[in-house]
Amino acid sequence: MTAAATARANVNLALVKYWGKRDAALNLPATGSISLTLDGLSVEASVAFGGGEADRIEIDGAEAAGDEALRVARFLDLVRAEAGRRERALVTTRSTVPRGVGLASSAAAFAALALAASRAAGIVLDPPALSALARRGSGSAARSIFGGFVEWRRGERPDGRDSVAEPLAPPDFWDVRVVVAVTSSAPKAVSSRAGMERAATSPFYPAWVAGAEADLAEARAAIRARDLDALGLVAEHSALEMHAVGLAARPPLVYWRAATVGCLERVWQLRAEGTPAFAIDAGPQVKVLCAPADAGPVAEALRAVPGVERVLTCAPGGGAELAA
Ligand code: PMV
Repeated sequence: MTAAATARANVNLALVKYWGKRDAALNLPATGSISLTLDGLSVEASVAFGGGEADRIEIDGAEAAGDEALRVARFLDLVRAEAGRRERALVTTRSTVPRGVGLASSAAAFAALALAASRAAGIVLDPPALSALARRGSGSAARSIFGGFVEWRRGERPDGRDSVAEPLAPPDFWDVRVVVAVTSSAPKAVSSRAGMERAATSPFYPAWVAGAEADLAEARAAIRARDLDALGLVAEHSALEMHAVGLAARPPLVYWRAATVGCLERVWQLRAEGTPAFAIDAGPQVKVLCAPADAGPVAEALRAVPGVERVLTCAPGGGAELAA
């Protein structure tokens, strides 16, 4: 058994969404995306290689089985191939992301696993290579390697080596808040993978892809200028456009619930009354971008929306790290 390596990574919220692949096997996106890594919602992964007939994977104290176990085992195969090793692995992950809050814990999980598994296998990957590896587990995990504001470049190469994330600005560059309104604790009915396949049937999908570069440029400029209104408006637009693509897909894909729409309306009302707050949901949970001073009132307003189960508030967070 090699010594266990342990790493932790935070979830991230996409401000310009990734929704569609140009290569499903390599998880290469049809467009670039921009995110904010969030503090305090993290996954810690420990990996050791050696012994055993098969990989053993324990997620939050329970042995993983079925598709979940297979997905991690396939990911470990990539690390084994890269490191030239054959031994099976013992993997344990522990999440501080409350279940069903609709904040992709898979992004944090595969970012943490990429770092822990590569180190346990005896290889030291630089951040771009680590991002490319994490991407293979879950596309959005490519971004959770880094803290603060992050851009995942679409890349042009068929092998995906240039489809990696890079930091745009560190977490302390701009103090903002993300208020998360949980409207449903039920697991997502349609996975991101299946949702993206369905999105490609939408007559609006080509427009979504064609508009991405303009959204990315707008978001980059807004982050550079620390312009909350500009960033909020483009992020809100990107999320709504993602839903519009799904509504027109065959069969249709609607992630919203009644409470989701209730939250959107409440956020727009707050804005009309002078509080700069922007709703960026990938459904059904609503994430609201706002200034630190407005986070309390925004959380209170969302808590009062019928159907909202709980509300939590996050600050910008750091990138993936090895545990001491
Ligand atoms: O990383 P995946 O395959 O779970 O896809 C993430 C999809 C969204 O969260 C909706 C958008 C994004 O950019 O994170």
